[in-house]
Amino acid sequence: MTTNPLNEAPLSKVPLSKSPMSQLPLSDYAKHRATFMAKMPNNSIALFPAASELTRSNDTEYAFCQNKNFFYLTGFNEPDALLVLLKNEQGQNKSILFSLPKDALHEIWQGRRIGQIKAVQDYGVDESFEVTDVANLLPDYLDGKSQVLFGFSDHDFAAQVFTWLKQVKSSVRQGAKTPQHLADADPIVAELRLIKTENELALMRQANHISGLAHQRAMQKCQVGKFEYQMEAEILHEFARHGARHPAYASIVAGGDNANILHYTDNSDVLKNNELLLIDAGAELSGYAADITRTFPVNGQFTAEQKAIYQLVLDAKNLAINAIKPGMSFAKLNVLTNAFLTQGLVDFGIIEGDLTELISDKKVKEYFIHGLGHWLGLDVHDVGDYHINTDREQLRAFEVGMVMTIEPGIYIPLSDLSVEAKWRGIGVRIEDNIAVTATGFENLTANSPQTIEDIEALMIKVTA
Ligand code: GLY
Ligand code: MN
Ligand code: MN
Repeated sequence: MTTNPLNEAPLSKVPLSKSPMSQLPLSDYAKHRATFMAKMPNNSIALFPAASELTRSNDTEYAFCQNKNFFYLTGFNEPDALLVLLKNEQGQNKSILFSLPKDALHEIWQGRRIGQIKAVQDYGVDESFEVTDVANLLPDYLDGKSQVLFGFSDHDFAAQVFTWLKQVKSSVRQGAKTPQHLADADPIVAELRLIKTENELALMRQANHISGLAHQRAMQKCQVGKFEYQMEAEILHEFARHGARHPAYASIVAGGDNANILHYTDNSDVLKNNELLLIDAGAELSGYAADITRTFPVNGQFTAEQKAIYQLVLDAKNLAINAIKPGMSFAKLNVLTNAFLTQGLVDFGIIEGDLTELISDKKVKEYFIHGLGHWLGLDVHDVGDYHINTDREQLRAFEVGMVMTIEPGIYIPLSDLSVEAKWRGIGVRIEDNIAVTATGFENLTANSPQTIEDIEALMIKVTA
């Protein structure tokens, strides 16, 4: 074993993927806009606000996170901007970006701004104005349009739209015509975002690759007596080292019984001998999320019970993934995995009864307490309809270009006195990111160790 000046254990030599993509070409965002505008009716206007900075306390802010619909349509990462898309009665389109002005003083203190000239040159919008011009120009743009599209989920922005509409209405005696139809732009953008382009897939592959390196690092750095937050630090270190400065969501680093708290993010406990460590962490790369979970033994060796539950969850995950192809659905995958996990828990004596009845009663959901997966993209729980029926089944048929997580888990809290003591305190989730292809699927989560043999071998190398 060689040492380095930082006294870090050597990490496995996994090369970064060839020709990694770290951001989309700006021309891709113009294509996203064009696809959206093709869905706008003639004589309509669509409005997409950027996010604002969020105060953490007093005069410090959280790391800026752009509004994802706005980002999908612009690639523009500054706060307080507004994208306006216009379609005239002849079906011709125009895109206008309102953004913060160049400002020497602000740029010395806070950071560079793109400004209006570069917005047109680099981001490919037809026109760009300073945000202060919105108040004057918006009522004019709205006047005479038959439909206004904007996201109904943003209450504050909806109130702003109504203020502009009221301004148009107040000029009715001067000949102004108020739009009569309002349409929710969110589901339209959601359907576009749901199907990923080749470039988006390349970016998500790279976000997954970096996240996989981080999970490997965590396994290699794990030791009894370390704290959960120290493992979180290893994860974030590896993300940033490869160009993904932010996680896509707050990392869950849960030792032992903490794994049975689904959204545990305290990450404050010490890691104990003979316990498992569940890490649910994914990098965000140029806005796109990875969402990966790995569960492994703190001391590098699974106990017999941990091994049994782990292998069951791993087999369930692979069963689901191998069935993915166009036409498959979460509803059908649920049938497969629920039956498989039920059989496993019966075999272990964790649940008892007639197998057919247990399956139809969905008894396994007492231990597999969340969904099998979700869409993944610019948001970790990405947008897009699931076609849920009254039985809460997700019937939507998978299509080429959709990306989803598959993440079965079994959770047996210490407090569950209905099972033998030896099973209690085990919480296992294994989560991969899968793209649907014409012939089946691509597992984007290719480099995160997952078999018992691979995990134990990787961990032994370091502790030996
Ligand atoms: N990381 C959140 C989830 O797995 O859905
Ligand atoms: Mn997930
Ligand atoms: Mn997750």
